[in-house]
Amino acid sequence: MIKKVNTEKEYQDALHIRKTVFIEEQNVPVEEEIDAYEAEATHFIAYNDDAKPLATARYRIVDDVVKVERVAVSKAARGLGLGKRLMIYLEDEAMQHGYRTFKLGAQTHAIPFYQSLGYEPYGEEYIDAGIPHYDMYKKV
Ligand code: COA
Repeated sequence: MIKKVNTEKEYQDALHIRKTVFIEEQNVPVEEEIDAYEAEATHFIAYNDDAKPLATARYRIVDDVVKVERVAVSKAARGLGLGKRLMIYLEDEAMQHGYRTFKLGAQTHAIPFYQSLGYEPYGEEYIDAGIPHYDMYKKV
């Protein structure tokens, strides 16, 4: 089940996935992972049938554009289409609020994942939190 986060428990479940994936697996510094935009962002979470949290993402609106951030699928659940379903759910929710343009900073290794969802890279590669990234966008 994929849903918008609207309880403290769901938010803590989302943070737990992010801690495991970004801080422990990818060595992102905790002060960069938990940033000043947490409260204004809309968060999403995916659970399996046993209510185990498996994936999360958030977006926030920047200049009328949906900025997608913190897309993370638990290691054991990758490659099964869950990340794609989560992104489609998030995009549908944002579109219900009238938004049509999406952008994100993709870790370079994840470019094919976002391309499979219709995002295109632009600009130059850059380093954020020690990890190579490209900016990507999508208009629907
Ligand atoms: N290389 C090439 N293609 C990839 C890929 C990769 N590393 N990861 C996913 N894809 C493709 C799949 O083949 C699939 O293509 P299809 O729709 O044509 O069949 C599509 O992307 C969807 O894949 P899916 O199974 O939904 O991806 P996922 O659930 O494994 O989630 C990530 C992808 C990137 C979110 C996940 O690997 C992850 O959380 N990684 C660690 C955290 C991270 O790097 N997040 C991204 C931050 S920008």
